[in-house]
Amino acid sequence: MNELQTVVDKIDHETLGKSPNGCRATFVKLNDSVGIKLYEDEEQRDYCLERQSLAEEYDLGPDTFGIMNIPERAKVDCRFGYLTECVPVVWDILPRDDAGELYWLIPSNVEVEGWDGTYQSFETCKAVNELYQKLAEIGIHLCDVHDENVGIKNGRFVCIDFGELY
Ligand SMILES: Nc1ncnc2c1ncn2[C@@H]1O[C@H](COP(=O)(O)OP(=O)(O)OP(=O)(O)O)[C@@H](O)[C@H]1O
Ligand SMILES: [Mg+2]
Repeated sequence: MNELQTVVDKIDHETLGKSPNGCRATFVKLNDSVGIKLYEDEEQRDYCLERQSLAEEYDLGPDTFGIMNIPERAKVDCRFGYLTECVPVVWDILPRDDAGELYWLIPSNVEVEGWDGTYQSFETCKAVNELYQKLAEIGIHLCDVHDENVGIKNGRFVCIDFGELY
């Protein structure tokens, strides 16, 4: 963990600017398998960590490895973080042509149980809906179902975005 903290200590505005982000979280990859999710709000961080940890128990989310923060002296906006397993995100694995247009088919080497690999049907795909149904059954109700919020782990879809506290 100390080695990871050394990497996290070096995260600056430039790194954050280049990293994937959404309305609340910024994700910085720390090595091949582990990344950190960073939030401006400590309570929002705790909320997501708690929900992802519960999902992890049911194989519905990536593994979590506890809290880690960027030191205050770095003076970055989002410094409250938790360590998470890094998984391929559906949006990121979509092939694009030279103009950046998406192809409608996922590469054939990516196999996910219950998915025919057709991008067009992603949000209505049975396996995606089953994932969110199972999350709801354990008390994690989410409505933000899209290709940037779903990853792939062991040939199954997992949720990577655990919603908002406020
Ligand atoms: N475990 C992970 N493995 C790999 N990439 C991840 C992981 N978690 C998040 N990411 C990347 O970081 C992005 C932002 O994370 P997340 O979706 O949790 O943020 P958010 O602010 O809650 O998003 P939204 O705008 O959808 O509400 C994701 O779309 C994805 O690209
Ligand atoms: Mg998101």
